[in-house]
Amino acid sequence: MSSTAATTHLWLREETKPMEHRAALSPEVCKKLLADGNFEITVEESKERIFADSEYAEAGCRIVPGDSWRTAPQDAIITGLKELPENDTTPLPHTHIMFAHCYKRQGGWKDVLSRFVEGKGLLYDLEFLQDDSGRRVAAFGFYAGFTGSAVGIDAWCHQQLHAGEKYPVIKPYPNEDVLIAETKEKLAKVGKMPKIMVMGALGRCGSGAVSYARKAGIPEENIVKWDMAETAKGGPFQEIMDVDIFVNCIYLSSQIPPFVTQAQIDSERQLSVIVDVSCDTTNPFNPIPIYNVNTTFDDALIDIKSSNPKPLQLCSIDHLPTMLPREASNQFASDLLPTLLQLPNRETAPVWTRAEKLFHEKVESMATTD
Ligand SMILES: NC(=O)c1ccc[n+]([C@@H]2O[C@H](COP(=O)([O-])OP(=O)(O)OC[C@H]3O[C@@H](n4cnc5c(N)ncnc54)[C@H](O)[C@@H]3O)[C@@H](O)[C@H]2O)c1
Repeated sequence: MSSTAATTHLWLREETKPMEHRAALSPEVCKKLLADGNFEITVEESKERIFADSEYAEAGCRIVPGDSWRTAPQDAIITGLKELPENDTTPLPHTHIMFAHCYKRQGGWKDVLSRFVEGKGLLYDLEFLQDDSGRRVAAFGFYAGFTGSAVGIDAWCHQQLHAGEKYPVIKPYPNEDVLIAETKEKLAKVGKMPKIMVMGALGRCGSGAVSYARKAGIPEENIVKWDMAETAKGGPFQEIMDVDIFVNCIYLSSQIPPFVTQAQIDSERQLSVIVDVSCDTTNPFNPIPIYNVNTTFDDALIDIKSSNPKPLQLCSIDHLPTMLPREASNQFASDLLPTLLQLPNRETAPVWTRAEKLFHEKVESMATTD
């Protein structure tokens, strides 16, 4: 237990974004924080959250009505995942921990930051909590790749079993065992195993994608794992055309030659499913420049136009981990725990001081940026 005078009060707010079942704090992590002795945790009731309110109560948290954080004590750190409702423009007097999506000049970024300025609040953006080497301390990547791979395999099974029929709506799963069992059953019905390529296989998303393929029972020789070494020669790559399912999980940081071209899609190929986990959909250097929309859980696949009659469908859902909210939240919260434990001493903890400095820099940049 570290020596601090006052307890740190975390206030887990109810998520208001539709279809969001994940949580920034899991009951398990709340229990560990409370055992540290320096924390007090309040949890807002939520019907959508994958964890029942009672799980938090059992962990020792205080339960309060949903959406009550605006009247929380001034020292409470309001903790959540997704953006606050856009139609609310009231000043924000608290410190917030969340993905605010306002540091990369996203649409409405100044409106979001201005609310903190007006309320004299502070934002610790989860996307920018980084360790000394600049790596994010917590991210949802693993389960994005894991579920992306699941969608890819399932879409391929659907093509084999229900050719020409619309792909069904995807609903969140209570846990990964249910999802894996479903995939295995469908693969058994198809009676053969697909060949799957994971690009960026050494990263967070990529290792999740490989893990799902293995758990679904796809033999190792059917899982092609590529990362920087394999793409150093420069695309496009025929090897992608020679698999059934291509799962792209790279972190795009500079202009690279495309992995895939329309000419390849129009030619003879094995490939019939692409899952673009990376979702650099509107990036001018998107290495899969054959589509330009994000798909959704309601309508997960688009048909890629091709002069080759063999279908090619693509999934570009940008919030894939929502499909497995329990595992994704548990992993995210566990990864965040060591950093949360530094909160009582945040004035001297580099991960928090860097995040605070970044907030002030972004606020200052509003004056000089459109
Ligand atoms: N769709 C979703 O729901 C979702 C969720 C989370 C993250 N993402 C996105 O997924 C992407 C990857 O995130 P991450 O956390 O796994 O990143 P990461 O840094 O952990 O891994 C990226 C991997 O890509 C590899 N890579 C980079 N350029 C490459 C290239 N040209 N050829 C081959 N390999 C290359 C890297 O070596 C690394 O192994 C990001 O763009 C992120 O925004 C999407």
